[in-house]
Formats: sequence, C-alpha cells, structure tokens
Amino acid sequence: TAMALRFDGRVALVTGAGGGLGKEYALLLANRGAKVVVNDLGGTWTGEGKSSKAADEVVSLIRANGGTAVANYDSVEDGDKVVKTAIDNFGRIDILINNAGILRDRSLLKMTEKDWDLVHAVHMRGAFMVTRAALLYMRKQDYGRVVVTSSTSGLYGSFGQINYSAAKMGLVGFSHTLAMEGEKYNILSNVIVPIAYSRMSATVMAPEMGEIMKPVYVAPIVAYLCHEDCTDTGGVFECAGGWAGKVRLQQSQGTTFNNPITIEQVRDKWDEVCDWTRVTHHRTAAEVGAMVVEKVSDKGDESDSEEVSVSYTFTSRDII
Ligand code: NAI
Repeated sequence: TAMALRFDGRVALVTGAGGGLGKEYALLLANRGAKVVVNDLGGTWTGEGKSSKAADEVVSLIRANGGTAVANYDSVEDGDKVVKTAIDNFGRIDILINNAGILRDRSLLKMTEKDWDLVHAVHMRGAFMVTRAALLYMRKQDYGRVVVTSSTSGLYGSFGQINYSAAKMGLVGFSHTLAMEGEKYNILSNVIVPIAYSRMSATVMAPEMGEIMKPVYVAPIVAYLCHEDCTDTGGVFECAGGWAGKVRLQQSQGTTFNNPITIEQVRDKWDEVCDWTRVTHHRTAAEVGAMVVEKVSDKGDESDSEEVSVSYTFTSRDII
C-alpha cells in the first residue's frame, strides 16, 4: 500500500546512537513517530573514555524536529541500566537495535588480551546484556523487533581484525538463536551487515566513499526490519549505499563415504566434498541432521550386509 510506515506508540532503543549509523536509525525512527532512547557511551572509536555529548546532540536534534527522545550514557555492558531508561521514561520497549561498536585492529600475533576482550565486551557481551534486559519486557508485551549488527569482517574475515571478526560472526549465531527463542512471543531478530562511511570505517575506507556509502542510506532498511509489517526473522541482510540483499549459508551436495572410512578415501573423494556445482541451504540445524540421516540411510539400503555400518557425510559450508 501507499500508506506510510509509522512507529507511533512504539519505543525504540538504539545503542551507540550518538553518531554514524546509529544516529541515522534514531533520527529516522523518531521522525516516524517512535519514542527513542539514544544510548551512547561517547568514547573514542577504540573504546577509550566516555562523554554525554554524542547522545545529547542526537536527542537535541530529534527534539528540534518535534520528536521524542531521551539520552542514556551507559555502556551496553550495563544492559539493565540502558533498558531501564526506556522503561522509566516510556514504559515499554518494542524495538532494539544493537549497534554500538568499537575497533581494536591488530594482526593476531600483536593482538593483546585487552584488544580481544574489549571488542568482545562491547559487541558480544554488550548485545547479550542489552538484549536479555529488553527481552523481559518484549516477552510480556508479546512483541519485539531486534536488529543485531554484524559485519563483512565477520562473514568473510578481515585482515587485522581477528577480534572483531570473531565477535561479529558470533552475533550472527546470537541472532539465529534469538530468532528461534523469540518466535512464539512475536519477537523477531535479524542481522544487518552494513557498509557505511563513519568515524569508524573512515580508518579503512577511502574518503570518496563518503558520498556513496552514507549511513542515511542504510537506515530505511533497518527501520523496515523494526516495523511490525516486517515478519522476517533469522535473516541476514547486507545493506550499503542504497542497496540491500539477503545472505545465507550454502552447502555442497557433499559425499558419503563407505565403511570402513579411511583417510585415503576422504582424500580421493575430497573434490566431491568441495564441489559447488550443486548446492543447497538449510534453515535449521535439525534440517542438517535430517539431511545427513537421509543420505546415510539411502546408502544403507543398497548394502546387503547385516553388519552395522557407520557412515558419515561431510560437506563444505560457505557464506554466499
Ligand atoms: P561509530 O563509531 O560512528 O558508531 C558506534 C557508536 O557506538 C559510537 O557513537 C560509540 O560512541 C558507541 N559506542 C561504543 N562503545 C559503546 C558502548 N560500550 N556502549 C554504548 N555505546 C558505545 O561507527 P559506525 O560505523 O556507525 O558503527 C555502528 C555499528 O555498525 C558498529 O557495530 C559497527 O561495528 C557496525 N559496522 C559498521 C560498518 C561500517 O562500514 N561503518 C561495517 C560493518 C559493521
């Protein structure tokens, strides 16, 4: 329909909304009627320091546009406090965009435990703490829309970002499980994989990308995922520069080994394991298990031996 998508009556919490992508999400949702909690710790992009300035500026902007917003300056690691701001001010929480993030880039040998821990604390533990706190209320409401922010660095790897890659891929698993656990309560969770020119990405992106990869181009896709009309869950969406596409795992046809399975047999059939000419995909782990049982059983039918035969199906998996 031509009806505008509105968020009146909805309360949205955007973490790390003091700048970059999060700021655009907060502005757009508020512009469409949502009451918004603008969370931002206000530190540097490497996770040092804190300040109320970033969140305050976005709240002022929203209010100047006639919208409703409050600031929260806690770290996402203090999820309960962040969510409490939504409950204390607006009485509920319908939308949660896990967006806060930092970088501590080093190649593996040079990476310190602090670099690893800090990145995991903000991205993974932060998403966990805030989402768990929000879920309590979403369950009572029988309504929730959660967005989790991953990265191509996680999906495909990224030189010098082993901490960030691991955390960002971890968040994909986080969202998949949340999608399952939330479904019966009408709590939906999706992953976005954005690319946008921000203070963070300016460290790796050419300045001329600033015109093409504006954060404002990502915001409508994220906002749509947060709307009640969007019933997708467990999805992964890449979005950048006014483009969006859906991503999923794919699996090769694979091959079944004969009993007794030897290393040499594996070597000789390795090309079949890795053959991408026929691919499939699965929506759940149960589907994968069922697929294996079916393949292994098929093979059992052909065998006239009374022996208990054990077969394994190995396949390659990759992100497409
Ligand atoms: P940004 O640095 O402009 O925004 C991140 C915000 O999170 C900052 O305002 C920062 O103060 C805040 N923040 C950091 N630690 C926090 C904490 N502990 N608690 C609360 N707030 C905290 O960077 P950008 O690019 O807007 O990043 C947003 C999200 O998108 C991040 O999760 C990032 O990893 C992800 N991302 C960005 C990409 C890009 O191309 N810009 C690519 C892939 C993912």
